[in-house]
Amino acid sequence: MAVTEEALMWVEKYRPKTLDEVVDLRDIVDSLKAFLKNPKTMPHLMLAGIPGTGKTTIALCIARELYGQNWRNFTLELNASDERGIDTVRERIKDFSRYSRAGFGNIPFALVILDESDMMTGPAQTALRRIMETSSRTSRFILICNQSSKIIEPIQSRCAIFRFSRLDRQAMKEHLQNIAKKENVKLLPEAAERIVDFSEGDLRHAMNALQTASAYKEGVVDEKTVSMVIGEASPMQVQKMIRKALYGDFMEARKTMYDIMGSFGFSGSEIIRQVQRELFKMSDLTPEQKAELSNIIGEYDYRLTQGANSDIQLSALLAQFAKFGKSIEESYDAQ
Ligand SMILES: Nc1ncnc2c1ncn2[C@@H]1O[C@H](COP(=O)(O)OP(=O)(O)OP(=O)(O)O)[C@@H](O)[C@H]1O
Ligand SMILES: [Mg+2]
Repeated sequence: MAVTEEALMWVEKYRPKTLDEVVDLRDIVDSLKAFLKNPKTMPHLMLAGIPGTGKTTIALCIARELYGQNWRNFTLELNASDERGIDTVRERIKDFSRYSRAGFGNIPFALVILDESDMMTGPAQTALRRIMETSSRTSRFILICNQSSKIIEPIQSRCAIFRFSRLDRQAMKEHLQNIAKKENVKLLPEAAERIVDFSEGDLRHAMNALQTASAYKEGVVDEKTVSMVIGEASPMQVQKMIRKALYGDFMEARKTMYDIMGSFGFSGSEIIRQVQRELFKMSDLTPEQKAELSNIIGEYDYRLTQGANSDIQLSALLAQFAKFGKSIEESYDAQ
């Protein structure tokens, strides 16, 4: 393998080149394919939604499917935050309309991909709207943005809008496993699960976490490495620590705490933050109990910011949890 290829980010190396390779998003892909069967029917498109879900990728796939290898000649790719801005769009579209007499292959229009279009100012959007109107014979636009609500209404109404939400967990896991296989890395199922949990439907994030984790240990990505890379202890382990403390097993809780600190090298504040988060996920506690425990957490979080010793303060926190657990038990006994 060439050095350059090896050094490549996996997100780029495995970026789909055709719509069929796109992970999840079946509905979107099917609608787009229907347009592409008869490109003359293709409207302007708006691809809107959360990061890392395939918007830019799909726009480039469309360009490839329309024009084949020469797609770059007929595609203007522009980032809205680009300093050249709207004037470039105007200039290039003029070029395109000159081209249009010769034709763009069999396609009657050129493609303008405008990324981060929600970053455009109001006046720029108004100018864009005008350009879309006057160039509709020779150009189709694909506007990409995170929030469609930041695009002025007259532009929105000229586009077919496709919304991208979190990608499907199972599809993400399968994609990660496929990449791992191609890279000769064994990705353990619980590690894949953690990466997907952490990425919240953002496949770019997930793939980057996988690539970083794979650099730690030759040939295998396990849950511990993932924890280290994403800077979070295993949620199960943190919950185990909280439960042990609440159910009165202070010594065991403390041992789990040392396991977490020792094996991941997390600071006290990082662990406290996670205790807070896991606490709110625990369905066996009432909202009142969670509120009380949050109060305790707040106190120790503050002490840590004042430079108190992590081990001691975390132990004290667990002792407070144990005391609280005992008081719940007693209140049950009294009933
Ligand atoms: N649905 C998907 N199918 C396959 N790969 C994907 C998908 N979504 C994201 N990826 C991977 O993540 C990378 C980033 O995706 P892309 O640039 O398309 O995201 P985006 O939605 O445009 O994000 P942003 O809003 O941050 O620009 C791609 O190169 C690809 O490797
Ligand atoms: Mg993008």
